[in-house]
Amino acid sequence: VPTMGSLHKGHEELIKRARLMCKTVAVSIFVNPTQFAPNEDLNSYPRNFVNDRNLCIDNGADILFYPPIEEIYPDNFSTTVKVNKLTEVLEGKSRPSHFEGVTTIVAKLFMMIMPDFAFFGKKDAQQLIVIQKMTDDLNMPISIIPVETVRKPNGRSEEHTSELQSH
Ligand code: PAF
Repeated sequence: VPTMGSLHKGHEELIKRARLMCKTVAVSIFVNPTQFAPNEDLNSYPRNFVNDRNLCIDNGADILFYPPIEEIYPDNFSTTVKVNKLTEVLEGKSRPSHFEGVTTIVAKLFMMIMPDFAFFGKKDAQQLIVIQKMTDDLNMPISIIPVETVRKPNGRSEEHTSELQSH
């Protein structure tokens, strides 16, 4: 279950689904700088490790992967993974480098963890489709599992309000 932390009920749903399907459940927390544009505030992205760790434990995760930035992007890092076409429309129009950052980090997490299944919320519909395309195109032996959006009684999805205002 790849995440950027600041976990909420939507993430709980991902972890619960993983718990039902998998012998070992790994959750990653990494606020990925490459999916933020220079005008988007990476530093104000919410971070709450203690809360996140407790939520992972409470929902039965076995492994919490919380790498430091140098481990993911060392100084000489120079490779990206880009899905064309699908990333040029919708959110990709206003955030032209966003999905390349997402697919690069997700590909790296997949290679590091080598999961059989990976869980993504349907809320980020374009992200889900782009990741599915990446795994298909690159023959990654990983099943992408879409998970339903968790909604509050007022119909809004569960997400932290300070996430990029463009969402
Ligand atoms: O959806 C997210 O939280 C992020 O885009 C992801 C998939 C963890 C990649 O950083």
